[in-house]
Amino acid sequence: MTSTEYAVEARGLVKVFGQNRAVDGVDLTVKAGTVYGVLGPNGAGKTTTISMLATLLRPDGGEGRIFGHDVVREAQIVRQLIGVTGQYASVDEKLSANENLYIFGRLLGLSSKQAKAKGAELLEAFGLTDAATRPLAKFSGGMRRRLDLAASLIAQPPLIFLDEPTTGLDPRTRGQMWDTIRQLVATGSTVLLTTQYLDEADQLADRIAVIDAGKVVAEGTGDELKASIGTSSLILRLADTNETGEALRLIEQVFGVQGTPSPEAARITVPMSDADRVTDLLLAFRSAGIRLAELSVQKPTLDEVFLTITGHGVTEAEETTEEVLA
Ligand SMILES: Nc1ncnc2c1ncn2[C@@H]1O[C@H](COP(=O)(O)OP(=O)(O)O)[C@@H](O)[C@H]1O
Ligand SMILES: [Mg+2]
Repeated sequence: MTSTEYAVEARGLVKVFGQNRAVDGVDLTVKAGTVYGVLGPNGAGKTTTISMLATLLRPDGGEGRIFGHDVVREAQIVRQLIGVTGQYASVDEKLSANENLYIFGRLLGLSSKQAKAKGAELLEAFGLTDAATRPLAKFSGGMRRRLDLAASLIAQPPLIFLDEPTTGLDPRTRGQMWDTIRQLVATGSTVLLTTQYLDEADQLADRIAVIDAGKVVAEGTGDELKASIGTSSLILRLADTNETGEALRLIEQVFGVQGTPSPEAARITVPMSDADRVTDLLLAFRSAGIRLAELSVQKPTLDEVFLTITGHGVTEAEETTEEVLA
């Protein structure tokens, strides 16, 4: 472990491919011991960004530090502090899961005994014990992804990069991956993950950078990002649908906006930028004798946040449901 407060500090990172500024001045600050999510659609520059931080690509501009160490000038030290798994990691197809982990362990300087013990422990943690002796060629995509992550954890690096760890996984394997990521952080690691899934960033990440066309377009906690667009909805269900007309009139009077009644008119949705007005509305309803069956406030989803910030929606990766053979 290192004592630096920040696992990642990137300032003005740039990567240019020909005419394409794939990463165009990205700043990122990741506190040690947290999960940080880099969220963006396909081609946004996620992989290129973390490749520079992981010393796999040389930046064309800006600088990156991992626990205070420069990714270019101190690349060797940085490599000892990180684990990288994702779209570019691979393991030997002909060997079994056991053998792969053993080899990784030995390459990382563990004794034969330590490498065996560590391999067995990780296979257990990732629910792969039953498949330990099976060659990788017989593994499903989800199992392979888990083995890949296990391999990257042999050295227990303080910082782990996960490039789209759950893209294309079936929901169950995805849930397992999320548990694993939470476990990693609970045991002291810092995780920087990229994702195209808004719910994944929302569920896992302490902070999120929304990236689009090589630029960070928003940054904050999931709740901050949602609050930043300020359009929670107030959902009202009336006890008596005959009062819908009067209710809509009062909503417009108090909020200055139109409420939208549901087709059967029992439910009214009101865009709400000022939560303080809710009290005024309830008082107005009471004086008018309008009774409510239910009242709730719905926060905007990250989908809506993304749309508002970038002007376009997220094109999610094709879902390919994989069969788990275990
Ligand atoms: N090695 C490369 N050579 C040329 N262009 C690349 C290379 N890698 C990525 N790109 C381009 O850079 C942009 C960002 O790509 P990438 O970082 O892979 O995005 P993401 O991971 O968010 O999908 C894309 O336009 C992509 O086509
Ligand atoms: Mg990518």
